[in-house]
Amino acid sequence: MPLTCFIYLENDAKKICNNLSTMWKYRHFTRKNYDDSCGGNTMEAVQEVVRDYNVEVIDLLNHIISPYDYEHKNKDDDFIRIAEKLVETDIIVFATPVYWYSMSSQLKIFFDRLSDLLNIRKDIGRALKGKICYLVASGTDKELPDGFEVPFRDTCKHFGMRYKEAFYFFVKKEGVMSENVRNSASKFGAKIFSS
Ligand SMILES: Cc1cc2nc3c(=O)[nH]c(=O)nc-3n(C[C@H](O)[C@H](O)[C@H](O)COP(=O)(O)O)c2cc1C
Repeated sequence: MPLTCFIYLENDAKKICNNLSTMWKYRHFTRKNYDDSCGGNTMEAVQEVVRDYNVEVIDLLNHIISPYDYEHKNKDDDFIRIAEKLVETDIIVFATPVYWYSMSSQLKIFFDRLSDLLNIRKDIGRALKGKICYLVASGTDKELPDGFEVPFRDTCKHFGMRYKEAFYFFVKKEGVMSENVRNSASKFGAKIFSS
């Protein structure tokens, strides 16, 4: 079962972060020290990114977002409610593990559903203009795959949002995050939330 987390800052400079971990449920049942609050490398880093800020996590695992439907029969699922939250924010931070050189599937479904904002809810689509977007990503390879940021950058551009940059880190051993990564994540949070 996939897990996606949005982190949502509840003050004037509201910010959203999104995390996706397709393996989380598996981990939940098979590894100790994981609880219902999310787990996984990406989420661990996200927790560091937001540690000192007033940020709410919206776990998409707790929401129903179905794949894009040309007939919009799924218009009453949770996508629009979450999209409306994006409108209330200044900064959107997506987070995802690298899965087969790409974003994870649940996040991709969320991105596909952004198409709803070009037709049935153009008002929301237009209201995204000017938002600032960031990305948190984790993998086991030393660098982000070529082109990984393209869908983020270009999708943002399509909606008039500004994609700034990614914080990418890699883990050598699953579930073990170095102090160095924690510090970098924390600095990334300061950069995006304190400026
Ligand atoms: C299905 C799957 C595909 C993966 N593909 C890649 C990949 O293409 N490149 C990479 O660097 N890591 C890959 N990984 C490793 C994960 O990106 C890495 O373990 C990540 O930190 C997992 O984050 P999470 O704990 O938040 O799920 C893959 C892992 C899984 C389970």
